[in-house]
Amino acid sequence: MPVVFDEANRVFKLDTPNTTYAMQVIRQGCLAHLYYGASVEDTDLGYLICHRNVSFAANPQEEFPDRTFSFETVPLEYPCFGISDYKSACLCVQMPDGTTATDVRYQGHRIYAGKPKLQGLPATYAGEEEADTLEIDLKDSVSGAVVTLIYTAFRFHDAIARSCRVQNTSQDSLYLRRVLSACVDFDHHRYDMVNLYGKWARERQVERRRLAHGKQSIESLRGASSHQHNPFVAIAGPNTDEMNGEAYGFSLVYSGNFLAEVEVGQLDTARLVMGINPTDFTWKLGPGEAFTAPEVVMVYSQEGLGGMSRTFHRLYRNNLCRGPWKHKRRPILVNNWEATYFSFNEEKLLAIAQQAAQLGVEMFVMDDGWFGKRDSDKSGLGDWFVNEQKLRGGLKSLVDKVNALGMKFGIWFEPEMISEDSDLYRAHPDWCLHIPGRGRSLSRNQMVLDMSRQDVLDYLFQSMSAILSSANIEYVKWDMNRNLTEVSSRLLPADRQQETWHRYILGVYQLMERLLEAFPNLLLEGCAGGGGRFDPGLLYYAPQYWTSDDTDALERVKIQYGTSYVYPVSSMGAHVSVCPNEQTKRSVELQTRGYVAMAGTFGYELDLTKITQEEKEMMRRQIQQFKELHGVITYGDQYRLVDPFQDADMAAWMFVSEDKTEALVQVVQMRTDPNPPLRRIRLQGLDPSKRYREQDSGRILSGQAWMNAGINIPEMYGDGAACIFHLLALEL
Ligand code: DGJ
Repeated sequence: MPVVFDEANRVFKLDTPNTTYAMQVIRQGCLAHLYYGASVEDTDLGYLICHRNVSFAANPQEEFPDRTFSFETVPLEYPCFGISDYKSACLCVQMPDGTTATDVRYQGHRIYAGKPKLQGLPATYAGEEEADTLEIDLKDSVSGAVVTLIYTAFRFHDAIARSCRVQNTSQDSLYLRRVLSACVDFDHHRYDMVNLYGKWARERQVERRRLAHGKQSIESLRGASSHQHNPFVAIAGPNTDEMNGEAYGFSLVYSGNFLAEVEVGQLDTARLVMGINPTDFTWKLGPGEAFTAPEVVMVYSQEGLGGMSRTFHRLYRNNLCRGPWKHKRRPILVNNWEATYFSFNEEKLLAIAQQAAQLGVEMFVMDDGWFGKRDSDKSGLGDWFVNEQKLRGGLKSLVDKVNALGMKFGIWFEPEMISEDSDLYRAHPDWCLHIPGRGRSLSRNQMVLDMSRQDVLDYLFQSMSAILSSANIEYVKWDMNRNLTEVSSRLLPADRQQETWHRYILGVYQLMERLLEAFPNLLLEGCAGGGGRFDPGLLYYAPQYWTSDDTDALERVKIQYGTSYVYPVSSMGAHVSVCPNEQTKRSVELQTRGYVAMAGTFGYELDLTKITQEEKEMMRRQIQQFKELHGVITYGDQYRLVDPFQDADMAAWMFVSEDKTEALVQVVQMRTDPNPPLRRIRLQGLDPSKRYREQDSGRILSGQAWMNAGINIPEMYGDGAACIFHLLALEL
């Protein structure tokens, strides 16, 4: 059984195919964490809790005079602030008397097949045949707060999703000062923390550090999950690599302010907590009201970081992304942003579209600049009506013409923003986030709409719906080009102001959901100045995300390599762009730009009316090649082979189809060595007993040979030279 309650030992145990998670109700109803790791059949795991007299430990009053019971050694499953656990807490409830100590004890539980939805929040989903859920109620008898911990164990993935709901059962309002989603205690601290940091145009770079005493954390206080830190951490053994060793992955399904913190305590244990960032967060909970915290997805693998990533990929592809595009090959698109920026008209767009159609491109995406008075980034945001100076025949005429070329049409919006110079701002200067008496910070010349307001959401829904129903528009790129400042909502009372950050992101989710309900076939691509909000929360609505504004192939290798720690290639928007590259001024061969974009959703973003005949021929071949290979790329398992963060000269990765009959290896030489060393790469993930033919050389070898002996990399010259190997299993 995937979820059991051993009544005699009062132990809860959740099992996935290769992992176990266990908790125990101990003295006085405290819920203690027992174990998370490789599968364990036994349920009698209470022995794992150590009772020891620790100097300076505080003992709960009801345990007196037993000095061996304290939360220094008993790891709480959902630690609370202010009692005798001094490590990072998940919950802090402020009572009407102003006090903040919180103490929750076991009340009851339920086990059922399937997985519940989370009210207003994105989350993984599963049918009754796919997963089992355990809900445990814990009550703070003094404040009346009841916490329900919700765990779902997936039957076909080594993943456990968890979140929690806090309900106020008292007659007074309570204030949630801190309500994190998950806590896991590790019995030692000899681990590394792996996280993805970055900045605009260089998102999700891999960083690994040894855990040290005290707190180490990543967070966002920008109102978006951010370019700077992705809401993900892995805890890995010091010797864990791509193929071997223990790796725990924690991924928060949330797009706003977050905190992921690991604390190494005085007894050399480590505690991870993750959830909504408690800084500037307080949620008022009226009598009877409930608050739901976002979901954390936990993955455990003994097959290294590669094994962890593949579990996330499969889970997020199958049980997070939704809609008709979830498993479909996405249209190969051309986007006009880097080709024209704001300076275009119908003729210019059609010229690009015509050329694209001849190459085999399947969708034309009109980016920023088609609406309001939008000739630069100084004006127009919020005015979601067509700029007929630029599109003289109107939107429908353009869309019809693109459709007549045999292509779909997509459009860009930046719904959450407002320009000072816009009709919307002139009509509703109070609709942006601002604090009376303080300046309104501008970023990229724009302000942020208060997405916690229903009137703002209704306006956006109506104006976007009007555009989307005015023509055959099949795709939306939803952009967001600045972070939040002066965060305050004019509609909230003083004691609810700190709810604004979270209400903002709930508003974004609500609007996305409403649009998808109204336009169920719409393909949404997320974007925030590139990958500034590339997180699992957004992927619930948008199955693909613009990975980065940096389209330089060598930068992209690293960005996409880091992104693949959590996110599948099917979610990574990737385009071939012009050289010298707009962001780095570097030139990389068109072939390499193509290979790198193929490790994503694949498309183009350059002025196709200005390319040479030779480039056109190559693009035609690229499009054909992507159509042939997309199956193994998009639905295959990804194995990272050579890490560009470790190896200055090379990056390599491969995809293997689920039935292991096909594989594609991609190799990029990041830097040329004038007297090139011999390079051989050992492949992964093949069936050792199958024989595979490498399509170019015709060489046939067993999977065992390709994996143990490896594949020779040809001599390549030039920074950014690249090659691929396509392996097909022989029919027996
Ligand atoms: C930032 C995006 O990442 C770009 O692709 C482009 O859409 C611009 N915004 C448009 O303003």
